[in-house]
Amino acid sequence: MMEEKIKSLLAEVSDFKAATRQDLESFRLRFISKKGAVTELFESLKQIPADQKKMFGKVLNELKQAAENKFAALSESLESVADSTQIPDLTLPPVPNTVGNLHPLFLTKLRIIEIFERLGFTVEDGPEIEDDWHNFSALNFPENHPAREMQDTFFIEKSATEGGDKLLRTHTSNVQIRLLEKQKPPVRAIMPGRVYRNEAISARAHCFFHQVEAIYVDKNVSFADLKQTLYHFAKEMYGKDIKLRLRPSFFPFTEPSAEIDVTCLICKGDGCVVCKRSGWVEIAGAGMVHPNVLRNCGVDPEEYTGFALGMGIERVTQLRYQVNDLRLYSENDVRFLKQFHTEGTA
Ligand code: PHE
Repeated sequence: MMEEKIKSLLAEVSDFKAATRQDLESFRLRFISKKGAVTELFESLKQIPADQKKMFGKVLNELKQAAENKFAALSESLESVADSTQIPDLTLPPVPNTVGNLHPLFLTKLRIIEIFERLGFTVEDGPEIEDDWHNFSALNFPENHPAREMQDTFFIEKSATEGGDKLLRTHTSNVQIRLLEKQKPPVRAIMPGRVYRNEAISARAHCFFHQVEAIYVDKNVSFADLKQTLYHFAKEMYGKDIKLRLRPSFFPFTEPSAEIDVTCLICKGDGCVVCKRSGWVEIAGAGMVHPNVLRNCGVDPEEYTGFALGMGIERVTQLRYQVNDLRLYSENDVRFLKQFHTEGTA
């Protein structure tokens, strides 16, 4: 009698299905509660002859265990169903949508592009992994010339063909060459991009940084055009009170060449670490495109002349936002990055 009852209860427990909390509650009342079937059977154990008590006690305990396990499993599955079907509380305040902001170097790049685009310059791009020809030889760097050492190069791969060595470009001037090779003058373009030099990392130098180079090749382009373009750029970028200074310099790919300084905006000319106490900060290198460079790209230097200029985006940004440690740009500390807002800056 008792044996059959236990068997049918066991079957009932294992077949039980609960679709709602009410089903679960009725399961609990039927099997687990103090007035449930299992307790009742334990009560009736008293009437069982002593020699059978042990055996029935064991099966009853198994039934009790099965009921408890089933209850735990049923409540767990009901909970996960509840989670996925729960209606969100529409009265709660919304979670703020945290948008990121543009990197300060990118903001400066956008501003530089904007200034030059208004002057009719297009924006060009070129490879960061470059061959020796486009980074050096075509730019009039003679083989084994010390000028190559001015730019500590990361070489990647030697090549048997001349000019074929692979390297990380040390400046964006490679894009000048690529552009002049494929486009007949007039060419008026800027080339923003990342460049690499094998330098120890410090507040003032990094192994990678960003440049924007500009080139303008046409009939009758003169040094006066270069100077006027630079002056216009500086005023647009830093305000009309900025002063510009050109110092004679040397680059293999320009002749004559100049380095361009602007008044230090960090100390307003009083002298600080950024301007090395001189009141002036170098922002660009520039000059008239060397006839050899034009010739290397298939452009006749008797017919066309051109100017080129190149500047570091980090340096321009440094003066714009008064940042005096270059490393901050690539450490990606959000406390630093969060301070630059797109609004009104680009
Ligand atoms: N490519 C030069 C550099 O990286 C900068 C430059 C560009 C100078 C164009 C003159 C003309 O140092």
